[in-house]
Amino acid sequence: MTQDTALLQAQDTNIRKGSNSRKVFIKTYGCQMNVYDSVRMSDALAKDGYEPTEDMEEADLVLLNTCHIREKAAEKVYSALGRLRDMKKQRAGEGRDMMIGVTGCVAQAEGEEILRRAPAVDVVIGPQTYHRLPEALRRAKGGERVVDTEYAIEDKFEHLPLAEKAKIRKRGVTAFLTVQEGCDKFCTFCVVPYTRGSEVSRPVHQIVEEAEKLVDGGVREITLLGQNVNAWHGEGPRGEEWSLGDLLYRLAEIPGLARLRYTTSHPRDMDDRLIDAHRNLRMLMPYLHLPVQAGSNRILKAMNRRHTASEYVALIERIRAARPDIAISGDFIVGFPGETDADFEDTLRLVEEVRYAQAFSFKYSTRPGTPGAELKDQVPEEVKARRLEKLQALLLKQQQEFAESCVGKVIDLLLEKPGRMPGQLIGRSPWLQSVNVDAKASQIGDIIRVRITGISTNSLFAEVVSN
Ligand code: 5AD
Ligand code: SF4
Repeated sequence: MTQDTALLQAQDTNIRKGSNSRKVFIKTYGCQMNVYDSVRMSDALAKDGYEPTEDMEEADLVLLNTCHIREKAAEKVYSALGRLRDMKKQRAGEGRDMMIGVTGCVAQAEGEEILRRAPAVDVVIGPQTYHRLPEALRRAKGGERVVDTEYAIEDKFEHLPLAEKAKIRKRGVTAFLTVQEGCDKFCTFCVVPYTRGSEVSRPVHQIVEEAEKLVDGGVREITLLGQNVNAWHGEGPRGEEWSLGDLLYRLAEIPGLARLRYTTSHPRDMDDRLIDAHRNLRMLMPYLHLPVQAGSNRILKAMNRRHTASEYVALIERIRAARPDIAISGDFIVGFPGETDADFEDTLRLVEEVRYAQAFSFKYSTRPGTPGAELKDQVPEEVKARRLEKLQALLLKQQQEFAESCVGKVIDLLLEKPGRMPGQLIGRSPWLQSVNVDAKASQIGDIIRVRITGISTNSLFAEVVSN
């Protein structure tokens, strides 16, 4: 074979494959909003002929959708980029192209710096501009290295395509839907106001349209997402001011939708209308993620949380009065600058008082650019580690107690996916637990009545009461 025929053959293969055969691999780090963003980016790229793949080896484009919340999360990205650089080099030796993109919160925070530290990267796109990703990739194909981390003036959601029915169906019976982004609270430990920008609420019609499309594609449970989801506000049909509670009532009217959830909330934004929705809307699941971060008033003040420990506890009591079976989940940070042993004891006391069904706890991680990073009295790592261990032991104990308290209960279970054994499915309880039960694959998407019979480390077992 001459060089010319080899070239022609290569060109021919490219033409036959056309733009339709390109594959994209997306690795998602961080929170549920990033999971949602990855889905929307994948849909935007589908328009340009990119098919998603789970196998990085066959990908023409690798995207890292990144998280910047703690130092470890950001460092993970740079080590992944090191491995990708080697892969790209090896591919180049084989005459195969590969493009690398960094999206999400590290992209927003580091921008150009990523291009300097990771020369193999072709595009860097922030969370507010991912609707421009296809265009950035076209420019990168022409040899440019593109950084786009501006806060776009146009509404990215107006420019992003919604997936086809068949595609939604493949993704399962539960889905995320971002209704609010960004944060104006400025907790002194947190990078989110800098990476995701100030609070923006999506309009009602856009949210309803997306929810209806999801339900049309077989989705039974929707989780509304926002960094401060309960700060969402919008306009009702008569021009009246709506809060998240009103939006939940509106979404509950969608025929075929069975369950609603929302996350993550700030204690300051739990208004009466939302608590009222917990009281009256059976399809709003009795599970609330309401981070408190710390139990000491001094530390809460230094964190700029703008509430006290007893205000938080009183709020939980009001919510429990409205919906007695509600499970509370939380986030905690240990070792915030200036935290003493006595402050930490206050956190333990608050945990004892609230009793959490589920919780996430972290060692304070200094984030450059946040007010917390400037504070004196940073807590030594070993002290943070000791406190974290103690707190996690208590939270784990409460989590187990909650799971044990479920044994014997009859509950509604949303059947989600194949289980561990043939003939079994995994469903989701109202309290977000995974439950194994004997059921047929054709029942995925159904809600059945089951009795909880036992627990293991991360899931529950149940028997069918009625289909
Ligand atoms: N260090 C440790 N944990 C943090 N979180 C946010 N910022 C930091 C930080 N700088 C935790 C909070 C928040 C969760 C998403 O991550 O608990 O609620
Ligand atoms: Fe991480 Fe926050 Fe960005 Fe989510 S919004 S990916 S938690 S930094």
